[in-house]
Amino acid sequence: MSEPTPSYTGPQRVFSGVQPTGALHLGNYLGALKKFVALQHTHDCIFCVVDLHAITVPQDPKMLASNTRKITAAFLAAGLDPERAVLFVQSAVRAHSELAWIFNCSARMGWLERMTQFKDKAGQDKERASVGLFAYPVLQAADILAYKATHVPVGEDQKQHLELSRDIAERFNRDYDAPGFFPLPDPLIKGPGARVMSLKDGTKKMSKSDPSDLSRINLEDDADTIARKIKKARTDPEPLPESIDGLKGRDGAANLVGIYAALAGTTDQAVLDEYAGKGFGIFKPALAELTVNAITPIGEELARLNADPGHIDKVLADGAKRARAIADPIIEDVRRTIGFWGS
Ligand code: AMP
Ligand code: TRP
Repeated sequence: MSEPTPSYTGPQRVFSGVQPTGALHLGNYLGALKKFVALQHTHDCIFCVVDLHAITVPQDPKMLASNTRKITAAFLAAGLDPERAVLFVQSAVRAHSELAWIFNCSARMGWLERMTQFKDKAGQDKERASVGLFAYPVLQAADILAYKATHVPVGEDQKQHLELSRDIAERFNRDYDAPGFFPLPDPLIKGPGARVMSLKDGTKKMSKSDPSDLSRINLEDDADTIARKIKKARTDPEPLPESIDGLKGRDGAANLVGIYAALAGTTDQAVLDEYAGKGFGIFKPALAELTVNAITPIGEELARLNADPGHIDKVLADGAKRARAIADPIIEDVRRTIGFWGS
């Protein structure tokens, strides 16, 4: 019988990333930012604006820099404290690119060929997609493991990428006979809000790239806009059911109940306990009020921070320094483990 593989015994650390590819929406907030803010009080946290991931599809250089500052502003506006958590930009720390190359040599083609996000993003014409878009999840594994992060808060759509990160960590540990060198990172996905759907189509996820602005609530939307979008959200004429089973096949209704639960910090069932038998004429205004109360203060703070790019740049410069101080010794160890000259 083979010995059980010794597992990682280093410290716990949280890492996550958000792409600078447009304004953030309620799905990003509930699936990611809200969790980040809670975790900063209980864990060592590192949060990254992933501009290297953004260039897997074409970007306008001026927009990229300004979107990078905007996502940082959204981190701060949502309540991240740069004294507690490390906030930085991926391309400012070279460890990410270096480890991504090394992991390109650990990951197998077959693993990447199974990634559904690549299939979605590359569409019909995958011959013309960038190699970077294909290797995107390998860079994601490098982001996490350059800090030996053990926990990764993300939305449901990132589940497959995190499984790949675990496979890569395991493969590296095995190939280099370094058991327990990298942790196998655990995704933190559970809870309402992990998959917020489009307000126009409850079968599609809420997304930055949906051409219809009515499909999502942006962190920058004002109170009237939020209320109007919720009022127009696609539902059905039935009242809310008593149990979750009764939401089957009612995607639009289920989505609004999930949003309510995530914002109120409760469960779908608790929301149904309160609203069973009531129609959307009652439920939607209540949801609108809850959403406005949660989102508009963030939007206002976001506008204030966007007017002060000097402050954002200072936060990012300090964060990059702290991120390098963690990642550089880990990369040195990786280099030694592989047998690179000079290590
Ligand atoms: P992205 O904007 O794709 O970089 O995503 C940033 C974070 O938001 C990731 O953790 C995603 O999983 C999460 N996220 C994006 N869209 C949604 C959604 N519709 N529902 C829940 N989480 C989401
Ligand atoms: N791929 C993630 C997304 O699109 C963003 C991301 C990049 C990430 N690197 C990461 C998330 C590392 C968690 C950990 O949402």
